[in-house]
Amino acid sequence: MARGKKLYEGKAKILYEGPEPGTLIQYFKDDATAFNAEKKAVIDGKGALNNRLSEFFMQGLGQIGIPTHFIKRLNMREQLIRKVEIIPLEVIVRNIAAGSISKRIGIEEGTLLPRPIVEFSYKDDALGDPLVPEEYIIAFNWATQQELDDIIALALRVNDFLSGVMMGVGIKLVDFKIEFGRHWDGDYQRLMLADEISPDSCRLWDVETGEKLDKDVFRRDLGDLADAYTEVARRLGILPSSKPMPSKPTLVN
Ligand code: TMP
Repeated sequence: MARGKKLYEGKAKILYEGPEPGTLIQYFKDDATAFNAEKKAVIDGKGALNNRLSEFFMQGLGQIGIPTHFIKRLNMREQLIRKVEIIPLEVIVRNIAAGSISKRIGIEEGTLLPRPIVEFSYKDDALGDPLVPEEYIIAFNWATQQELDDIIALALRVNDFLSGVMMGVGIKLVDFKIEFGRHWDGDYQRLMLADEISPDSCRLWDVETGEKLDKDVFRRDLGDLADAYTEVARRLGILPSSKPMPSKPTLVN
C-alpha cells in the first residue's frame, strides 16, 4: 500500500499519511529509548515484534467493544490506523508497585496495590512528561470531564483484558501506559485507544520466576530486549511473520 508523506516521527514510531482520508500508516522502528531518550539503542527486530504485538492486543480489545485506532496490519513494520487527535496524556494503570510509583512514595517494587491505580502524565518531552492531577486536565482543557470519565472506565477495562490475557500465558501485568485520541467522522467525534500496546509500554513479569519481559530489560541492562519480547510473542502464539515457520508442526500442550 502506498504511504503518503511523513507527518510525525517519534522515538519508536513514524506516522505517514494513509491511503484514504482519516487514515494513517504507523511504522514501528527498531529504536529503543529510555529516560526521555537519554539512553538509546537500535534493537534488531523490535519494531516487527511491537507491530505484531500491538495488533494482537488492539484486535482483542476491539473484539470486546473497546474502540481502537487499529484497522489492519500491512506488513512486518506497518499498520493502517484511524487518524486521531491525540489527547496529550499518558494514561498509566498500575496493579503492582514498580518504577516511578515505588520511587515516589517508597513502596517496594512487587507490592500488590490495594486496587488498580490510574494516573496521568502530561505528554511533553521538554518537561519530562510530568505526573498531573485530574484537576489540571479539566482546568487546562486537555480533555473534558466526560472524556476523562470515559478514559478511566476504558483504561480499567483494558487492564482487566490485558491482565487476563497475560495471566493465561504465565505473565503478570504489573503496569502499562496507553494513549487516547479523538477520531473525527464527519461531524461525529469518537474517543478511541491509540498509539500502541507493546512490551515497550507495559511491565510484564514472569509469574514463576519474576523475570522481566518488557522494556525494563533495556532500561536496567538486564539482558537482550528482543529475546524478552520474542518470549512474550511466543507465549501468546504470535511471532513476526519474518520468522521462518518450523518445517515440522510442533505439538503444543
Ligand atoms: P513508570 O513507573 O516509569 O511511571 O512507568 C509506568 C508504565 O508506563 C510502565 O509500564 C512503563 C510505561 N511508560 C511508557 O510507556 N512510557 C514512558 O515514557 C514511561 C516513563 C513509562
